[in-house]
Amino acid sequence: MALEIRPLSEAMGAEVTGADFSKPLDAADVEALNQAFLDHHLLCLRGKPLSARELLDVACYFGTPHAETTRSHWVDGVPEISKLVSTYEKPEDKPADPRMNRRTGWHTDHSFKEIPPKATLLHGHEIPSSAGHTRFCNAERAYADLPEATKQRLEGLQAVHSYDTMRTPARAIARTAEEVAETPDVVHPLIRTHSETGRKTIYFNSNRTDRIVGLERAESDELLDAIHEHMTQPQYRYDHEWRVGDIVVWDNCSLVHSVNVDYPIGEPRIHLRTLIEGTRPI
Ligand SMILES: [Fe+2]
Repeated sequence: MALEIRPLSEAMGAEVTGADFSKPLDAADVEALNQAFLDHHLLCLRGKPLSARELLDVACYFGTPHAETTRSHWVDGVPEISKLVSTYEKPEDKPADPRMNRRTGWHTDHSFKEIPPKATLLHGHEIPSSAGHTRFCNAERAYADLPEATKQRLEGLQAVHSYDTMRTPARAIARTAEEVAETPDVVHPLIRTHSETGRKTIYFNSNRTDRIVGLERAESDELLDAIHEHMTQPQYRYDHEWRVGDIVVWDNCSLVHSVNVDYPIGEPRIHLRTLIEGTRPI
């Protein structure tokens, strides 16, 4: 089967059509998908809604999916697939200030972990009639555009990633004492090298990156604010307008993402998600 792969935007991303993703792909197609993933950082596989089991097969083309520990999150008994319901059931669910919804913050998934996921796969099952886009910025390109002197200044800096940081207005969900013990602060390089392409990128998460090791708070905040502003400029950005059946898979090393949370109250917004195992950031 001939996959068709077309760029989605100047900044990143490619659309993949020409296959029925509920059926197995041959090895050549899987290789083509993985090469396109490295080239474009994000792929949108167009198709129809898949079951958890079918989605798991697609996720395995990109690596090893994580199993969720919480059984209540499993979909159809598949530990690797979670159901994410982001519907506003009632008016109180939707904050007046979108910044109070943590999904609006530019982030890379699970950077509070020592070994964060390589990729996230999100599959649209029910999509509201407006807004609700997932927005992405290309941190690898933002890094490449930095002046040489700035690159040298950032080289070797280490950043503390916390489960929550007071740098962002919305608080993370409360953790039990056991969960707090399981989520200590971790340190990652601010400039990270992609494990497969060897290209450098800025590894920053506005919801979790708390400070730069060895800098005073004010100096650290100033530097992180400047990075945040630089990497979220329009030339690095692609907004994904969801269609039912889309499978969007993105690279958590080279991209940050956020959600346009201004979608209508009472309209279902439901995705299936899986995370693909990564490597320790270096
Ligand atoms: Fe996310």
